[in-house]
Amino acid sequence: MDWGMKNRLSQIIKPDTGRTVMLAVDHGYFLGPTSGLENAKKTVEPLLPYADSLMLTRGLLRTSVDEGTSVPIVLRVSGGNSILNDDLSNEEITTSIKEAIRLNVAAVALSIYVGSKYEHQTLMGLSNLINEAQEYGIPVLAVTAVGKEMVRDVRYLSLACRIAAELGAQVVKTYYCEDFEKVVSASPIPVVIAGGKKIPENDALKLAFNAVKRGAVGVDMGRNIFQSKYPVAMIKAVRAIVHDGISADKAVKMLRDLTKKKK
Ligand code: 5RP
Repeated sequence: MDWGMKNRLSQIIKPDTGRTVMLAVDHGYFLGPTSGLENAKKTVEPLLPYADSLMLTRGLLRTSVDEGTSVPIVLRVSGGNSILNDDLSNEEITTSIKEAIRLNVAAVALSIYVGSKYEHQTLMGLSNLINEAQEYGIPVLAVTAVGKEMVRDVRYLSLACRIAAELGAQVVKTYYCEDFEKVVSASPIPVVIAGGKKIPENDALKLAFNAVKRGAVGVDMGRNIFQSKYPVAMIKAVRAIVHDGISADKAVKMLRDLTKKKK
């Protein structure tokens, strides 16, 4: 791995802990004005001090993030579909590497849809993106998107993560599942988990705890942070799990203490 690639990766996965808290706010690329992100600037700003990186589209970056930010950017570069379409897998590359460089990003991200109708298209999209990004030392985060009809189990997620790694992605983002340690051990690259749909805060903290306990290098979490009634307290508690290694119970207590002060 060359110096630029390593340097960019170390902006995201912090060398002192080997872990990361990525904040994902890219949902609008197919969900439109996602609840909590209607005014993304307002939502994101207070969370930035606690995020190791921010994952979003170029449109949101340009309009909703201050150019002076020191938070590394993970740019979503795939899309071309919407929630109105039953098959979400018909994605392609939307944003060029030239644009990623212009925006000074730390990494680029795209979704792959293993087992879906457009599997081949999205896997070739990943391969082409890696070929190009590698030229400039830009890491690629592959997101293992799961179609509506797919089961998020250890067999499927191991398959999708391993394919992403074999094609050359530097980091893979997936979902937590039973026997998650097997997903991690089958993946020779760092694994981060998405939070998924909003669930109670305590459960989301347990999810983050279980994921890092079973080998994830951290989270790339969105809705369970920005849709929480207490987003800043939530990201602080997630951070404490990921970087300080506190237990899920301690994180729940931390969240309770932080939110009590707000009442
Ligand atoms: C969509 C994405 C989202 O960024 C991802 O799902 C993370 O957000 P959340 O924690 O809300 O699931 O990659 O494909």
